[in-house]
Amino acid sequence: MGTALPDSSVVNESVRLITDNAQRIMTWNYERDREQLVTLYNKAMSSQWNSITDLDWRVEVDPERLVHDQDSGTMKVVAGAVKIPGSPIAAWGQQELTECGIEFLKATLSQFMHGEQGAMLTAAKIVETVPWIDAKYYASTQTMDEARHTEVFAKYLSEKLGDPYPMSPYLDAQIMALLEDSRWDIAYLGMQIVIESLALAAFGDMLRRTQEPLLRKLLRYVIADEARHVAFGILSLGEYYESLSEAELKDRQEFMIENTLRSQSRSTTPEVWERMGVSVEEVVPFLFQAAEEQGLHPSATFQRAFFSKLVPNTRRLGLLDANNGYLRKAWEDAGLMEFEFADDTASDYDSYDAVAQDRKLL
Ligand SMILES: [Fe+2]
Ligand SMILES: [Fe+2]
Repeated sequence: MGTALPDSSVVNESVRLITDNAQRIMTWNYERDREQLVTLYNKAMSSQWNSITDLDWRVEVDPERLVHDQDSGTMKVVAGAVKIPGSPIAAWGQQELTECGIEFLKATLSQFMHGEQGAMLTAAKIVETVPWIDAKYYASTQTMDEARHTEVFAKYLSEKLGDPYPMSPYLDAQIMALLEDSRWDIAYLGMQIVIESLALAAFGDMLRRTQEPLLRKLLRYVIADEARHVAFGILSLGEYYESLSEAELKDRQEFMIENTLRSQSRSTTPEVWERMGVSVEEVVPFLFQAAEEQGLHPSATFQRAFFSKLVPNTRRLGLLDANNGYLRKAWEDAGLMEFEFADDTASDYDSYDAVAQDRKLL
């Protein structure tokens, strides 16, 4: 994926400029006539949580234990590559493997952190560009949610794990395109439907593999918010897409294909290998071999979890069948339509609300 940035967009190592080509909309229609969005907004306000008082940051985190306790497909593949003769990591022992596991964990949490900042900026863009007052209100609560998510991942990294990694070029390109797009619904579609369905799957995957209580609670609370964000996307875009022409819908279908099938190379962060003192080019063939020998695709479970959310959510938008089933056919060929009637997030978002559940127990 092309990730070269025009020089002018990078001011210095911590500042990046982005030009948003969408028009802002102010509305004088304050009528609360989108009931499902009103409900969602009320839930968002009552399930706000506080990163300081709801999470116990005094918990001591042992990164080595974190790695040993998690059943990571990636680390199984790395361990497999250690055993292959001639591999650049053939001399590794348990200590290097553990160190590498910690680096992968930091890399993953770093992408979560950068992705959350991207979500904060996108939610703010939606506040400015969406024409409906109920959606502006809701997106404002989401902006606050995403600020909290960015903050907690940044804090977990700096207090418990160590130096974060830079934003991956894949995530960077994906989010910058949404922030620059002139069409307000594309920011919605890319963030609320694609990236947040992905986030739900990724956070859920990490939650299943983690015993550490602080990270567990943080993930449960973040997931509670994310499910509402996806529901917000479905409820808003479902209405908007009823008003678009087939040609306009085709653009959105293309967008979905582009962002789900053509760009699945969510590559391992090469910096992990750099930090471990190993050449990426040299180690990658051995990782592939190890994955094949073990019949493991490190992200297979994760991909299933992603599409089991994305496909039914997209069905709710009416995007599968426009233009004679253009998107349906593409996803059918990729073997994804088995998920068509899985639960969509606009129907089950409330079941993710760990914040409300915990408060009931108090
Ligand atoms: Fe988030
Ligand atoms: Fe979100």
